[in-house]
Amino acid sequence: MKKYDLRSDTLTRPGKEMRKAMYIADVGDDVYAEDPTINKLQEMAAKITGKKAALFVPSGSMGNLIALYINCGKGNEVLTHKNSHIMHYELSSVAAIAGAMPIAVDGERGILTPKELEKHLRPNIYYMSKVKMIEIENSHNKEGGTCYKLKELKAVSEFAKKNNLKVHMDGARMFNASAATNIPIKKMCSFVDTVTFCLSKGLGAPVGSILCGPEKFIAEARRVRKMLGGGMRQVGVLAAAGIYALENNIKPLTQDMENAKKIAKTLSLVKWAKIDLSTVETNILYFDTSQKADIIVAALRKKGIVCGAASPKSIRMVTHLGISVEDTEDICKIIKKFEVPSKRKKK
Ligand SMILES: Cc1ncc(COP(=O)(O)O)c(C=O)c1O
Repeated sequence: MKKYDLRSDTLTRPGKEMRKAMYIADVGDDVYAEDPTINKLQEMAAKITGKKAALFVPSGSMGNLIALYINCGKGNEVLTHKNSHIMHYELSSVAAIAGAMPIAVDGERGILTPKELEKHLRPNIYYMSKVKMIEIENSHNKEGGTCYKLKELKAVSEFAKKNNLKVHMDGARMFNASAATNIPIKKMCSFVDTVTFCLSKGLGAPVGSILCGPEKFIAEARRVRKMLGGGMRQVGVLAAAGIYALENNIKPLTQDMENAKKIAKTLSLVKWAKIDLSTVETNILYFDTSQKADIIVAALRKKGIVCGAASPKSIRMVTHLGISVEDTEDICKIIKKFEVPSKRKKK
């Protein structure tokens, strides 16, 4: 039986052509800044985002951490959504390593607004810590792959400028967000000072993220990356996968989104799932379940759909490069036929 793994878009595997590009990559020592392939990837990333410079980092978490370390500084505060990735899934590195205090901000669909941000500004008194930056996540993972609209990006940017704050975008899935909103990447990034995006999620590369920003910031980022143990040597083999991903795997993200919507529509028609279709903006979907989520997850796995419980009564599914249109049709068929295991009677 074929298994469809919908736990995350991080599960994508490098295909034959990507591996070929890795195999033939020209390499050098990147700590000496002498790896031609990584230099090419970084130049490409800076151009795509419209930033002056870019730096390859081993993970999205490290990209975010470096931005927090530099832009925020010890003893200062960063305003971030209460459900952001840095808040939940980066092991408090913002506090433990960057030395900054994350302030959890409310926001519908994971979107920060001046109205909510304003509540957390502090008067300029010596015994109060200073808010130094805002971190936005686009698309927003835990809130269901939701995206900032143009006017929402503009509002955050204007608020930040007015209050002398830096803005970092965790754009782990910014290409998904761009596909969903039709906001070109350069335009999206023009509202933020620095941005991290991941090559290793929907774009299908095995490793790596890119941190982009002003030249001086990236020069400092290179130092912090080394301090964190992230200085790499012949990393061109990974950069080749990244270049391949940027050249070939941005377009399929639109199909991933269509596939997610199709699965969501099918879920909306079955009794054991409850989903608000308007919440499905990109390749991530969450739905509530009629029974304990882990029971449904286990039963779905037996039918070939691998997914994860997001809470005791909700499930997350993520479409990606490894799930084709035909796979999606098959997944929908399984969902339609699926029967929820009956509840065990209490003795
Ligand atoms: C929104 C978001 N930001 C950052 C990350 C961290 O990326 P990495 O796993 O490469 O550290 C993830 C990973 O899933 C994510 O979903």
